[in-house]
Amino acid sequence: MTFSVLTLFPKMICDALSYGVVGRAINSGKITVNCVDVREFAVNKHGQVDDAPYGGGAGMVMMAPPLYDAYKSLKSNARVVYLTPQGKLFGQRAAEEFSRENELILLCGHYEGVDERVVEEIVTDEISIGDYVLTGGEPAAIVLIDAVARLVPGVLGKEESSADESFSEKLLEYPHYTRPPVFMGREVPQVLLSGHHKKIAEWRRETAAARTLARRPGLLDKN
Ligand code: 6GU
Repeated sequence: MTFSVLTLFPKMICDALSYGVVGRAINSGKITVNCVDVREFAVNKHGQVDDAPYGGGAGMVMMAPPLYDAYKSLKSNARVVYLTPQGKLFGQRAAEEFSRENELILLCGHYEGVDERVVEEIVTDEISIGDYVLTGGEPAAIVLIDAVARLVPGVLGKEESSADESFSEKLLEYPHYTRPPVFMGREVPQVLLSGHHKKIAEWRRETAAARTLARRPGLLDKN
């Protein structure tokens, strides 16, 4: 799967995605991240990509022509996802849907936003990663790519497989423990040392349910 990212900070995206599972998926060619520096499509030799808003007001607006030209340079008809706090809330459902695409184009906004006409012209999906305001769309693009990439077949190993996990079951995960058996006087729950697989599975289901009820009761309604 290919992620093409229209951004003012291409290095921020590439660096952030160069670690761990996602970094390996890039190195092995299971996913491709292609960052396009929108400033290379600036309207003048000063590298201008933003301008004051018509109608006045604070801040600057990203100009339509550089973004449109950066988009056109991709010569692709893939879906274009605009990362914006005005977008639809991103979740595991959307991550699963995006992971079935061959290519996604991500548009990272900055300043007060992007000229609405280029949004109308090229954008197919507007996505927010949560109800808080970021300085730009790049961290959101990184979050989206990470969540989608790990669902692409072959990106996770058999061990880490996304099949039996939390949000796909609509429950939070049970707590995990590894050696040592006692840490700061705290013991690992006895049942996990019992070797009794049925009891262990039952304990994990129960603690996952209790945790979900205590922390995220809204998740239970979605079952
Ligand atoms: Cl996608 N962009 C920005 N700038 N802020 C956000 C966001 C996106 N999602 C939540 N906050």
